Amino acid sequence: MHGVWGNRWTFILAATGSAVGLGNIWKFPYITGENGGGAFVLVYLVCIALIGIPIMIAEVLLGRRGRMSPINSMHFVTAEANLNKAWTGIGWMGVLAGLFIMSFYSVVAGWALHYVVTLASGVFEGTTAEEAGKQFSDLLANPTMLMLWHTLFAGMTAIIVAAGVTRGLAAVAKILMPFLFLSLFILLGYGVAKGDIAAGADFLFAFRFDKLSAEAVLEALGHAFFTLSLGMGAIMAYGAYMPAHASLAKTVITVGILDTFVALIAGMAIFPIVFANPSIEPGAGPGLLFVSLPIAFGNMPGGLIFGTLFFVLVSVAAWSSAVSLIEPGVAWLVESKKLNRLNATFIFAGIAWLLGISALLSFNVLSDFTPLYLFNRTPFDFLDFITAQIMLPLGGLFIAIFVGWLMSRKILVKEMDAETHPLFDIWLIILRFVSPVLVAVVMIFALYKILFSS
Ligand code: PHE
Repeated sequence: MHGVWGNRWTFILAATGSAVGLGNIWKFPYITGENGGGAFVLVYLVCIALIGIPIMIAEVLLGRRGRMSPINSMHFVTAEANLNKAWTGIGWMGVLAGLFIMSFYSVVAGWALHYVVTLASGVFEGTTAEEAGKQFSDLLANPTMLMLWHTLFAGMTAIIVAAGVTRGLAAVAKILMPFLFLSLFILLGYGVAKGDIAAGADFLFAFRFDKLSAEAVLEALGHAFFTLSLGMGAIMAYGAYMPAHASLAKTVITVGILDTFVALIAGMAIFPIVFANPSIEPGAGPGLLFVSLPIAFGNMPGGLIFGTLFFVLVSVAAWSSAVSLIEPGVAWLVESKKLNRLNATFIFAGIAWLLGISALLSFNVLSDFTPLYLFNRTPFDFLDFITAQIMLPLGGLFIAIFVGWLMSRKILVKEMDAETHPLFDIWLIILRFVSPVLVAVVMIFALYKILFSS
């Protein structure tokens, strides 16, 4: 048992700090671009509402019930419900998923750090799409440079986790979030003035269902988990600090709305710039953000200062997310293995850092290394795929089954503090019959196609 946060706003800020990150600003626009736009966005929004939010309530509930690190919280609730110990596996898989995500997340966050310096140096002054594209491919072709930034970011994350000030991040989120919103709006303004806002909006919001494959649906589902930091214990770890009587539903819905809002604004800011520059493809892949935004910053008044600031904000947003990726594993090492925090962080962040080297080499030395056992993907793509599209949805599926079907109604009613509220029953019905069924169906169909159709 440990301390509790002052009020539910502290939880909202910490959880938003975890949720809002590269997933919203970097990943959402680029996978939307790769999957043809509108229909993908719609599926993603449906997944957030029908799967993400209900399961997020369940995951926070588990954390608050257990009041320990995810593995030990799962231990507690499993014992309390008299169930087989195997259910603790939800916590274990989450710790592993956090390790995997951290490894490639740190590489991409490293790109953002690099762009802070590049923008500040003025290289992008008056840049063209071609030049911006070349800057990015030059970065990817340079393992030493990538290594430097990856190491710096992993180190920055480790410092916060080792100091155990995870909760202090709520304060960071409080300052960061308004600035992030503001700068996304300024970018949006640039898109309206100079970009092709009509083409951008059409791409994001016109439903072209013919473009939607089973794989894309799984990717949208996986991204709903990824962007909400769901299915791996991050949100459970923060839930452990939530005050007993704060409303779970209201709190989680607030986080979900904030997170979705940031992603949509990021998309609305990026695509008008993409469509105004014929040499950038919407499906350009992981470089989309890093190629399109420098064009905007390089060609707007005050753009270099503003662009530098923007990438500082993106880096800080990534930082507050990364902390929550390794916190569950570190907290468990401290709680159960009696390691001190410093050593636990060093071990855990060290393993993620090592794995991250395979991710950063995926863009140069290992770019053709796509063995069958990585599902024909580079290490970078594999780490992303196995976590976002398999481990997180599976974690979520098990959480839905555990809370929806196996925990006693009495405990749920007590935790939700809402016995007679009609929304309680609606939530429980969705958690039992809708979320897990959708996750299972999408996973089975898409994985079948991925495994057997090539
Ligand atoms: N939600 C974070 C983002 O969108 C990533 C993340 C995933 C963080 C899982 C913690 C756990 O960038």
